[in-house]
Amino acid sequence: MPLGDFIVNTLLESKGQTVSGEKLANRFKVTRTAVWKSVKSLQKEGYNITIEKRRGYRLNKLTKRPIEREIKRGLATERLGQKVHYFDTVDSTNNAAKELARTGALEGTVVVALTQTMGRGRHNRIWESPKGGVYMSVVLRPGLHPKDLTRLTLLSGLAVATALNSLYDIKVRLKWPNDLMLNSRKLGGILSEMEGEAQKVNFVIVGIGLNANTDIKVDIPTATVKKVIEKEVDLVLIIKEVLKYLERLYDEFLKNPTGFLKEYREISHTLRRDVEISLETEVIRGNAVDIDSDGALELRLPDGSYTKILSGDCRYLKSRV
Ligand code: BTN
Repeated sequence: MPLGDFIVNTLLESKGQTVSGEKLANRFKVTRTAVWKSVKSLQKEGYNITIEKRRGYRLNKLTKRPIEREIKRGLATERLGQKVHYFDTVDSTNNAAKELARTGALEGTVVVALTQTMGRGRHNRIWESPKGGVYMSVVLRPGLHPKDLTRLTLLSGLAVATALNSLYDIKVRLKWPNDLMLNSRKLGGILSEMEGEAQKVNFVIVGIGLNANTDIKVDIPTATVKKVIEKEVDLVLIIKEVLKYLERLYDEFLKNPTGFLKEYREISHTLRRDVEISLETEVIRGNAVDIDSDGALELRLPDGSYTKILSGDCRYLKSRV
């Protein structure tokens, strides 16, 4: 165990009591200077630790930053989040996760950042990423066919929605394919990207962006968890809960790739609405009647015929088609 982890754990166990530098040093078999240096860097990581001259150290508050030590504390997963790469700021957590995956990062490796300078949304849109949001990417190696990616993306949206709904007793719903909606406003989204060959996926990066304590500008009205529950939310807690549900649903998915769709349909925000889907070369309008076993959106067209769309940009229509 690294010295920093040991100090935080020991101070946490002593429940606000001061622990002497000597005790910490003896128990970890290092010098008191090493303890002091480690406490200084913990303070830089955002831990509120009081240094009392000649008495020792007292932990007043854990850091709010979603660093590896905090995400792993009491994390209810076996694989997802067992390795976390944290950045105060990064271009895009998806880019960093891709680099790690290319060089062999294990399934479940997570990249988290406090802010992103080049956060990306779907269709190459900018994803504004100020401090206070959740920006995380998870490396998965599902050994799937590339066409299964749509389902995996839907499943990731379901995991995030379920995590938030269980934490805050709210009703996050999913706009197909994977916008997270709260009170009909956009709360976040999923950007999944894969690398592999024509028949086989090497890895998938599931990128998750959430307006937790922040408000961002996108092309549709946005919601933030903070505004809805009327208090600042804990990013570490959200990330842990997302990883828990993502691992649960993902493990089920590997055994039964369509099982989760029932739950997905139940919290769909799109079904029964009149929608317009923009594809590369055409725009299709229709009524969203179902999500099929591939995760495709099934539309009833104005002429009464049906069509299925596996991926595209979805917009709700105000007037009937
Ligand atoms: C969308 O367009 O709705 C998807 C947004 C996904 C944003 C997240 S933030 C973490 C990860 N890194 C990125 O650059 N994008 C995703």
